[in-house]
Amino acid sequence: MPESTIESVLQEKRLFQPPAEFSQTAHIQSLEDYQRLYDKAKADPLKFWAELAEQELHWFQKWDTVLDWQPPFAKWFVGGKTNIAYNCLDRHLTTWRRNKAALIWEGEPGDSRTLTYAQLHREVCQFANVLKQLGVKKGDRVGIYMPMIPEAAIAMLACARIGAPHTVVFGGFSSEALKDRLVDAQAKVVVTADGGWRKEKIVPLKPEVDKALANNGAPTVENVLVVQRTQQKIQMEPGRDHWWHDLQAGVSGNCPAEPMDSEDMLFILYTSGTTGKPKGVVHTTAGYNLYTHITLKWTFDLKDTDVYWCTADVGWITGHSYIVYGPLSNGATTVMYEGAPRPSNPGCLWDVVEKYGVNIFYTAPTAIRALIKMGEHHPKARDLSSLRILGTVGEPINPEAWMWYHRIIGGQRCPIVDTWWQTETGGFMITPLPGAIPTKPGSATLPFPGILADIVDLEGNPVAANQGGYLVIKHPWPGMMRTVYGDPDRFRRTYWEHIAPKDGQYLYFAGDGARRDEDGYFWVMGRVDDVINTSGHRLGTMEIESALVSHPAVAEAAVVGQPDEVKGENVFAFVMLENDYSPTEELANELKAHVVNEIGAIARPGEIRFTEGMPKTRSGKIMRRLLRNLAAGQDVAGDTSTLEDRSVLDKLRGGA
Ligand code: WT7
Repeated sequence: MPESTIESVLQEKRLFQPPAEFSQTAHIQSLEDYQRLYDKAKADPLKFWAELAEQELHWFQKWDTVLDWQPPFAKWFVGGKTNIAYNCLDRHLTTWRRNKAALIWEGEPGDSRTLTYAQLHREVCQFANVLKQLGVKKGDRVGIYMPMIPEAAIAMLACARIGAPHTVVFGGFSSEALKDRLVDAQAKVVVTADGGWRKEKIVPLKPEVDKALANNGAPTVENVLVVQRTQQKIQMEPGRDHWWHDLQAGVSGNCPAEPMDSEDMLFILYTSGTTGKPKGVVHTTAGYNLYTHITLKWTFDLKDTDVYWCTADVGWITGHSYIVYGPLSNGATTVMYEGAPRPSNPGCLWDVVEKYGVNIFYTAPTAIRALIKMGEHHPKARDLSSLRILGTVGEPINPEAWMWYHRIIGGQRCPIVDTWWQTETGGFMITPLPGAIPTKPGSATLPFPGILADIVDLEGNPVAANQGGYLVIKHPWPGMMRTVYGDPDRFRRTYWEHIAPKDGQYLYFAGDGARRDEDGYFWVMGRVDDVINTSGHRLGTMEIESALVSHPAVAEAAVVGQPDEVKGENVFAFVMLENDYSPTEELANELKAHVVNEIGAIARPGEIRFTEGMPKTRSGKIMRRLLRNLAAGQDVAGDTSTLEDRSVLDKLRGGA
């Protein structure tokens, strides 16, 4: 078990009731309604989920068994056949939604595009046929390495349509990180673009794919499909590389959705863990579809007239569940934005809200803190009156940022839903339902109906109110990850063995510390393992350490998170050099660039501190707690008696 960072946070006493007018039209209208749903789901979870699956999804064939649970392996809706692309597209075509905007896209340079359900369906079918022509079959994996353009969603849905699991790799990852993922997933095809726009610069993507595939780097990849987005010159390798628009031209827009088994793999998404390489989180078809569908509908109180906007990137789970699958399954209008606030236009997000009359806005605390810094005159200069509900995700939100969001963006009328969840959980787990649950700034409030969350000690015993402990989930849920791709044992070890099964009940260990207050509200405090949360992105300290030690100058590295006002945490690296190297600023910069090269810009260390020793226990384990103290500029707190060599502390304090 990693050493614990569980701390108590300040008690926040403010309580915000759902506005009465909001509750009147909400899907879930009162705390009593929520409680009834919660109790019903708790009393008979299988019945609860089965009823929803029947009501909310289209099935080619109904399931025979709601849940087959052989801990820690779950199968939901066994024997059923469905297709998530069918649920996201085809079923809307026979309704008035046929000509409703499915996807509104806004490019950074100001170009834009709106696709109705009928248009999106046609493009998805065409691209599905393109994939088939390239020999992609049900079960083959497809890598997607894209900017935030409609083709990213089209490619995902086309894969789902023919039953080829996708693995989307965030466009900010380097060629090395891309290669690792393509190799692990044994991808047959890669879908990419020449580049994407970010802060008025072109982010090259195709050249990174070329590097990843060079020297047979990812030998399973046969073809590369390239969307022309930024039009800079790129290399096209004859026979391997094809322009999307060339292959799509003249292709049939008819491609029936493949009836998929409920448990057929839908996608793999890599996420950082405590040890080793990122793990491929596997999600399957029916349970994930149901879970993202219903959590979005209730948590954002989704209405058919809403324009819904989530600012995440499709390369993360938030983009998968709540830009693409959840909204489209509900027949909603989902906004996709390529840009980011930038010096030339710090108010660009609010321009998008005003331009499209966005009703629901979902972003991350780190983005809110950055927007606060840019000044409230930007949002104040726009008409944000269309907004009716706001959401946050990615890390605990500090109450000041919550209050700013509430006052300046929400005009004090919009409920805020602080959604706690993870790549592994598929969808929201602990979150307010905006018409029903009063909110407290900084708390994700209460579990979604059907989610049995608890806070326990290492033996699995529930802790008392306001005591810190480990956040666990006690019953399987449809959106849960099924395994680590290719490594079921790692799945078991990572999530199910830190805390022993309690009275025969397996507990899902989320990796977060939390406490519950006297009202039963959950306050998530952050990771208790060696995972850093920087700007809402999750990075394993081990991953960055491996990147550092792969540089010839580095003998040993230890990476910790350093508190940062905007990013939440900064990557802070302690580095011991090999004998022939001296600790210079140039070398520090070179090491930072090396990490960017190995992983991507999101992992760039904010600071590198050279040291002549590492604080280790007698058994050789680095005491990260001490390093975290030092990185935070504090003196070393707590017990240091297990340190092997106490003089190391002075060396570390001095730095270089
Ligand atoms: C970790 C999961 C789920 C999409 C975004 C990140 C932290 C996430 C909250 C929240 C406090 C949060 C947790 C979690 N986290 N949402 N509302 N309050 N912490 O997904 O990369 O899988 O990271 O993000 O530490 O374990 P992810």
